[in-house]
Amino acid sequence: MADLTPLLAFRWSPRSFDPNAELAADEASSLLEAARWAPSAGNAQPWRFALGHRQDESWKRILVSLPADDQRWARHASALVVGAHTGGDPEPAAYDLGQAIAHLTVQATALGLHVRQLTRFDRAGLAVELDLPPEVRPLVVAAVGRLGDPSALPEELRRRETGLRHRRPLATLLLR
Ligand SMILES: Cc1cc2nc3c(=O)[nH]c(=O)nc-3n(C[C@H](O)[C@H](O)[C@H](O)COP(=O)(O)O)c2cc1C
Repeated sequence: MADLTPLLAFRWSPRSFDPNAELAADEASSLLEAARWAPSAGNAQPWRFALGHRQDESWKRILVSLPADDQRWARHASALVVGAHTGGDPEPAAYDLGQAIAHLTVQATALGLHVRQLTRFDRAGLAVELDLPPEVRPLVVAAVGRLGDPSALPEELRRRETGLRHRRPLATLLLR
């Protein structure tokens, strides 16, 4: 495999988060700053974010929008970050939001944090919980925190947590 910068090589998406770790204010600012400085088509910056720290009101409202199975592990993350997109054309806005979240994720790795993104959640319910205007469309929730002990996970999640990660071979991705 070709060399990757360690920031990308060490990134992965855990479900085991340290339930005692908190996200410091300067870490939260750094993550959002990374997202803010992502490129976007026409510099439209169609991303919006909501941040909940564990046990605060925003966090509770975000957590309840996740599937019950995912709440089991996501509740231990230090923070839940909602990524929403806005503007007239959803497709490029969603692309730009994804790029902003990717930048947030790389910055998280630089801070020794981990991120697991979720797009399977109750989007309409979350928009109501957060009192979002109709043009702001939540698309992703990023659980952010420090790595926890995988043995604290339910059995079936523990096996997935410690299993090998896979990717398609590069040769099968190249169209020409
Ligand atoms: C856009 C996006 C949506 C995802 N949605 C979910 C999700 O709803 N639930 C979940 O448990 N993981 C979700 N994931 C995590 C992926 O399953 C994970 O990134 C993938 O298996 C690759 O693993 P890695 O990030 O450790 O390399 C999502 C990731 C991305 C980028």
